[in-house]
Amino acid sequence: MTLPLASTIVGVREAVAKAQAAGLRIGFVPTMGALHEGHAALIRAAKADAGFVVVSIFVNPTQFGPKEDFSRYPRTLDADCALSQAAGADLVFAPSVEEMYPKGSSTFVEVPGLQDTLCDAYRPGHFRGVCTVVLKLFQIVRPDVAVFGAKDFQQSRIIQRMVSDLNLPLTIHVEPTAREADGLARSSRNRYLSPAERAAAPAIYQALTALREEVKRGSKNVQALERELSHRLAKIPDSRVDYARIVDANFLSTIDSISGPAVAAVALFLGTTRLIDNIELEPS
Ligand code: PAJ
Repeated sequence: MTLPLASTIVGVREAVAKAQAAGLRIGFVPTMGALHEGHAALIRAAKADAGFVVVSIFVNPTQFGPKEDFSRYPRTLDADCALSQAAGADLVFAPSVEEMYPKGSSTFVEVPGLQDTLCDAYRPGHFRGVCTVVLKLFQIVRPDVAVFGAKDFQQSRIIQRMVSDLNLPLTIHVEPTAREADGLARSSRNRYLSPAERAAAPAIYQALTALREEVKRGSKNVQALERELSHRLAKIPDSRVDYARIVDANFLSTIDSISGPAVAAVALFLGTTRLIDNIELEPS
């Protein structure tokens, strides 16, 4: 049997209402498609916690900047449905832009503070678009649990904040980053990399793990550690660092010294492809 696919809000609501009436918990994994093993892990985690799992596939225009890759973002719906089904999904929701943003849509959600740093400083408006679409999807699917990936660390923190601030009745589960055998974080954008860029890309995670080792050995000075990280990243051929920062793991705020949970987060262009990765740091 092929996986049920809904393209309308009414269609999803009907399917979810049926599952709820059958006494099932609803799990939800929002995605932009071009699914890979990282997304599959999220779907499996949702299925472990909920009897009925919805995967949304929607390349959300409001989170892309005018010069970003919205139109060339990979769209692979058939393969995505097959992967979702194999990982345990019960329904795919793949709406059109008009279904999600009918003419006249004008309400946006923002989480200032957490959003105005790291990625958003370089992609202004990005998290406004993410929060708006995720809240809309939560209202459409009404899940008991929604699963996000630690790869997008800032995004997962912002969504947790939004859920808490707006008293949304669901639990957020964050799954660890799924990686290729050589350490590169799995990403829909990895397919843009040329063979030479792909060969260079694992150096991002190597730089992050080297940093974590230094912190384990007792280094605490954030400015010196950030300098060291930038220096390692700068050696990657054809790369341009967007940011390489160490921030408080909960508030994403600037810190001088590693005295509690922190995260090192990196965004870097390899050629024209922007990759992100991060690693959690614990003081020694
Ligand atoms: P997308 O980039 O498709 O990612 C969907 C989910 O998969 C996110 O929670 C992301 O963190 C997770 N993910 C991606 N790569 C991963 C990896 N290697 N390991 C673990 N999890 C991974 O993030 C978005 O879409 C959008 O911003 C969205 C939340 C759907 C809103 O449009």
